[in-house]
Amino acid sequence: MTLRRFRPYFRYLLDNRRTFFTAVFYGLLYGASSGLGLPAMVNYVFPPIFDRTGPALPTSVIAAIALAIPLVFLLRGVTGYLNSYYVTLTGTRILEAVRLDYFRKLQVLPLSFVQNRRTGDLISRGLADTAQLQNTLTVLANDGLKQPITLIAAIGYLVWQAVATEGVWLVLVCLATVPLAVLPIRYVGRKVVRRAEQMQAQLGNVTSQLSENLAAAREVRAFGLEARETHRFGVTTSALVKAQMNIIKYAQALTPAIEVLSATGIAATLVFAYGADVKLESFIAIIVALYMSYEPVKKLGALNSELKRGEASLDRLEVVLNAPVLIADPATPVVVDRLRGDLAFEKVSFSYGDNADSPALEEVTVRIPAGTVCALVGPSGAGKTTFANLVPRFYEAAQGGVTLDGHDVRALRLADLRRNIALVSQEPVLFNDTIFNNLALGLETATREQVMAAARAAHADDFITTLPQGYDTIVGERGALLSGGQKQRIAIARAFLRNAPVLILDEATSALDSDSEAAVQDALRHLVVGKTVLIIAHRFSTIRDASMILVFDKGRLVAQGDHASLYADNELYKSLYDRQNSSAN
Ligand SMILES: Nc1ncnc2c1ncn2[C@@H]1O[C@H](COP(=O)(O)OP(=O)(O)OP(=O)(O)O)[C@@H](O)[C@H]1O
Ligand SMILES: [Mg+2]
Repeated sequence: MTLRRFRPYFRYLLDNRRTFFTAVFYGLLYGASSGLGLPAMVNYVFPPIFDRTGPALPTSVIAAIALAIPLVFLLRGVTGYLNSYYVTLTGTRILEAVRLDYFRKLQVLPLSFVQNRRTGDLISRGLADTAQLQNTLTVLANDGLKQPITLIAAIGYLVWQAVATEGVWLVLVCLATVPLAVLPIRYVGRKVVRRAEQMQAQLGNVTSQLSENLAAAREVRAFGLEARETHRFGVTTSALVKAQMNIIKYAQALTPAIEVLSATGIAATLVFAYGADVKLESFIAIIVALYMSYEPVKKLGALNSELKRGEASLDRLEVVLNAPVLIADPATPVVVDRLRGDLAFEKVSFSYGDNADSPALEEVTVRIPAGTVCALVGPSGAGKTTFANLVPRFYEAAQGGVTLDGHDVRALRLADLRRNIALVSQEPVLFNDTIFNNLALGLETATREQVMAAARAAHADDFITTLPQGYDTIVGERGALLSGGQKQRIAIARAFLRNAPVLILDEATSALDSDSEAAVQDALRHLVVGKTVLIIAHRFSTIRDASMILVFDKGRLVAQGDHASLYADNELYKSLYDRQNSSAN
């Protein structure tokens, strides 16, 4: 049954049990006042008014009796309102909790999980599918209790009437039509579930295209892709419309189908009532009770298709929520504080995805003693960045192991490991925050003085102080308001601030002009002292001074040594070096 599918998520209801049970309480009152209150009211209010056989009643008494009508509706209205209010309150809190869990999970999933999926689709799952789940849970919490209670109350009234008025047959005929309504409900439920999944996937496509297009705003203009992109987006949105209508088509047919069934039930009741000699008020009360039992059936039918839609969204959410956190803290971690920085790779092989045929790294073995400035060189795609990525465990080596100070990196807590590493990546990303805060995330405990000293060391201070708001300037999304070189200097300043024993510089100065580069190189010379440094740079001026150079080619470590020995012995290194020098001159 579909309900079981949602069981792991009922804990969200329990976390909000006070508002939830308040909602349930009012739902109970609402159900009773609808299923029992309305038909009973009809039965007791009408006879004294229309019965002309007894003595005439004063108008005040009639008014008092008639007052029962608005009172029952008032009770029903107020309890219905409070029920909806508390159900919605519970629902929005659940949405918040599910979204937070989703976001929290995205933070700890392996980098490859996020990179192998479309950003827009992940956004859509976090927004649209969580909203669908909220809707389902609230409709379930609301109608799942209220409607069965209304149904039981109404049927209870019918049975009571059957006994009291001896119209047993009449009532049985009424009731016989109720189970028939299950047929269209099941039919629609089956139709909805797959279509709902397609619809949510299509919504993901729309978000993906939108986010991809916005990220490529410059390319769209440069290559004149405006019309092509608009056309592509149009195709995707119209597919979404089609998918949405595919659900609406079935879901909306449910209510009319059940109404026709209930009308048929009323007609049959009429025919039987003619032969059974029932009083008008009893008859009307029975019709009201019958209507009141079809109402919940209708709602339960809608709830069923809602559950199917929720199920589809849940499938999509669980792709993230239940994804294994492959890169996690070990069960019994080796506790370390500050590492020295003895780095070693032992027969490390690694490939992105399942593509084991062309590994990004193959059988790499190397020992980099603490305090070594080690340069990685090789053609583009040779595996330099991949090599560096394995040290902070951004990815996990398929075979072999990476050790720091003799500890396998998998034996350390991730936080301990990464606290010991400072990284300036190939494409540094800043947060849409002030420059100061972007710098300060290099070190949690940083003071204003420390932050500014780091900025000065990275030669970032010069440009920051010329900005209108200085350190308090907001840098825009991903740092869009800064130049490539400015972003790099901020990233380098973060590394200064972090002052970790292991430093990874991946093309850290590639976006700088030669003046700034010379200045930053100078600063880096201070930074690298006493640290284990992996430096990837295409300018050999940076590399020549390294005490150790690793040459990569097609994922293999093909040579290692210092500049002089490699230049003399290694063809690849010599050709890379000469090509650089000739193009530089
Ligand atoms: N996230 C990824 N998913 C799949 N394959 C990847 C990924 N990143 C890199 N690769 C592949 O792995 C290989 C090594 O890439 P890597 O980034 O390590 O090269 P590199 O030596 O740093 O090159 P460059 O000098 O151009 O930065 C390449 O063939 C590349 O296509
Ligand atoms: Mg690279």
